[in-house]
Amino acid sequence: MPDITTRADIEQLIIRFYDKVKLDDTIGYIFNDIAKTNWEHHIPVIVDFWEGMLLDTTSYRRNAMDVHYQLHNKEPFRKEFFDRWLQLFRETLDELYEGEKATLAWKRAKGIADLMAFKMLGDGSLRG
Ligand code: HEM
Repeated sequence: MPDITTRADIEQLIIRFYDKVKLDDTIGYIFNDIAKTNWEHHIPVIVDFWEGMLLDTTSYRRNAMDVHYQLHNKEPFRKEFFDRWLQLFRETLDELYEGEKATLAWKRAKGIADLMAFKMLGDGSLRG
């Protein structure tokens, strides 16, 4: 399998990931019903974010943590949300890519998800 090397690779990953997220019984409703996500707008923003993480670009200049705090205030995030989000991300990554950047993508996803969970749910969130 190839590694992630271009923005188009990230786009493919992100589109496939959110195709799963949208339909997911655990976290789909956060996007569909709570945030009412406009996917045409959202996908390029998320691709910017991951391009920054993986290919060192600087187009993403927003505060992703704040966006999630605002959502958390509307609909409290639970441990299961993070588990499921990570599971779907991992699954999608494994379907498409392998290599240094793919590994980095997983490390970043896990690190940010753990940090977010820690900030929102406190200590117990890192167990398991
Ligand atoms: C419990 C797990 C998570 C849930 C339920 C969740 C849900 C959401 C939702 C509903 C949005 C807003 C979409 C919109 O604008 O309509 C969003 C935005 C976003 N999420 Fe998450 N998210 C989770 C974890 C993560 C993690 C771990 C990352 C990064 C590794 C991440 C990265 C982003 C980014 C970059 C945005 C765009 C923020 C912006 O508008 O600038 N999310 N997320």
